[in-house]
Amino acid sequence: MLATMLCWAMSNAKMKNDSIMENVVSLAKRRGFIYQGSEIYGGLAGTWDYGPLGVALKNNIKNLWWKRFVLDREDMYGFDAAILMNQEVWKSSGHVGGFSDPLVECTKCKKRFRADHLDDKTKCPDCGATLGEEKQFNMMFKTRVGATEDESATSYLRPETAQGMFVNFKNVVDSFHPKLPFGLAQIGKAFRNEIAPRDFLFRTREFEQMEIEYFVRPETWTDAFEGLRAEMHAFVGDIGLAPGDVHELEVPDGDRAHYSKRTIDFEFDYPFGRKELYGLAYRTNFDLSAHTGGSKVDISYFDEETKERFVPHVIEPSFGVDRTVLAVLTSAYTEDEMGGEKRVYLRLAKAVAPVKVAVFPLLKNKPELVAKAREIYTTLKKDIGAVLFDDNGNIGKRYRRQDEIGTPVCLTVDFDTLEDDTVTIRDRDTGEQERVAIGDLKSRLMA
Ligand code: GLY
Repeated sequence: MLATMLCWAMSNAKMKNDSIMENVVSLAKRRGFIYQGSEIYGGLAGTWDYGPLGVALKNNIKNLWWKRFVLDREDMYGFDAAILMNQEVWKSSGHVGGFSDPLVECTKCKKRFRADHLDDKTKCPDCGATLGEEKQFNMMFKTRVGATEDESATSYLRPETAQGMFVNFKNVVDSFHPKLPFGLAQIGKAFRNEIAPRDFLFRTREFEQMEIEYFVRPETWTDAFEGLRAEMHAFVGDIGLAPGDVHELEVPDGDRAHYSKRTIDFEFDYPFGRKELYGLAYRTNFDLSAHTGGSKVDISYFDEETKERFVPHVIEPSFGVDRTVLAVLTSAYTEDEMGGEKRVYLRLAKAVAPVKVAVFPLLKNKPELVAKAREIYTTLKKDIGAVLFDDNGNIGKRYRRQDEIGTPVCLTVDFDTLEDDTVTIRDRDTGEQERVAIGDLKSRLMA
C-alpha cells in the first residue's frame, strides 16, 4: 500500500513537473521569449531562437554577469575571441582527441543514443532491438575554412569559449602588463554536437557561455577558487534564483574533465531534476602549458617583483547563459488565483525582467488620458529604457498580459490623474495598488 502511495505521489510530482516544463515552453513561445529554431521548416534539433522578450531577459542576465565579474572589479579584463580558431588549438587543448560522448546505435532502427543516459545499454529504448557496440563520438562541429578541400582547411566551431582566452594570454600580458592574479572574461557562443539534445534550453547544440579564466600563482589557487566560488553564489542572488535551489556537487576523481584537478558543479533543481547549471574548475597550468607545447610560443609569465618566470595556474568559473534563462523561467513560473480567477505570472526579479514598467491609459478612446499616459511613458522610457505602452483591451486583461511576462509594475493614468497629477501603480505579485505623484515616479520606480 505504502509503495503504491509513494508511486502515486511520485508520478503526481512528475506530472506536475512535466506540466511546468510544458507550460513554460508554451508561454515562452506564445509571449515571444523563445521559439523553436527554424520552426517553419520543421525545426532543427537542439537549436532555439530568442524573440524580443527572450533577448531582453538574456541581455539582462549577461549584463548583470558582466557588471559583477568585469565592471565592478579591478582584476578582470573583458574579451571577445573569434569562434573559428586554428585547428591546432583544439589538438593542443585535448578536444580533438578526447572531447567525446559514448554513443550506441540500434542495429535495427539505426537510432543513436548516449550510452551513459541509458539504463540498459544492450536494448534499444525505442524499438527493443539489440544495440551495437559503444563508440566514442567527438562532439565538435567540424567545418572547412576557405575554398581548400584538404585537411589543412579543417576548423571547428568552438565547444568552449575558454580556449580563445588561453591563446590570447600572452597578448593581454604584453598589452596591459597585469599583475597576478587577474582574469579574462568572455561571453559568447559555443557549439556541441550533442547526441541527444533535450529538455528545452538545457541541452542544446548551439548555446552561449559566460566564462572566466582567472590566472594565479600556483600556490594561491585555493584562495582564488574560494573567492570565485562565493562570487558565483552572489550572482545566483543577482538574477533572483533562490539560494536553496542551487546545490554544490564536488565532482569526484574520474568524472572530471581531462584538464581539471578540482571541479565543483553548481546544480539547479529544474522541473526535470537536479542538473548542472554552472561549473567551477581548477584547470591548473594544463592549457597554457599545452599551448606552449603546441604553438612553440612561450606562454609563461614573468613576475617583476620576484624575478621568477613560471606558467600561471587557472581557476575557471563557467556559466551557461541558456541554462540560466531556463532556471530563471522555471523558477519564476507561478500559478495562483487573483480576484477569483486563475492567473499565470512570472515572478522575475526586477533586474532580469524584460519590461520594468507598463504604462496604461485607463481608456483608449479618451484622447486626454492617452496623451497624458504617453507623456509619462516617454519620460520614463528615457530614464528606465524597458518601459512599455499598452492601451489595448480592458485594464484587467492588460494586467494579466504583463503578469505573464513578469513586468513588476503597471502604471495607470485615469481621470484623477488629470486633476491631481497622481497615477495608480500596481504590484505584480500582490496585485496591490497605490496612488503615487507623477513627480515621485522616477525615484520610486528606479529604486
Ligand atoms: N570551459 C568549460 C566548459 O565549457 O565546460
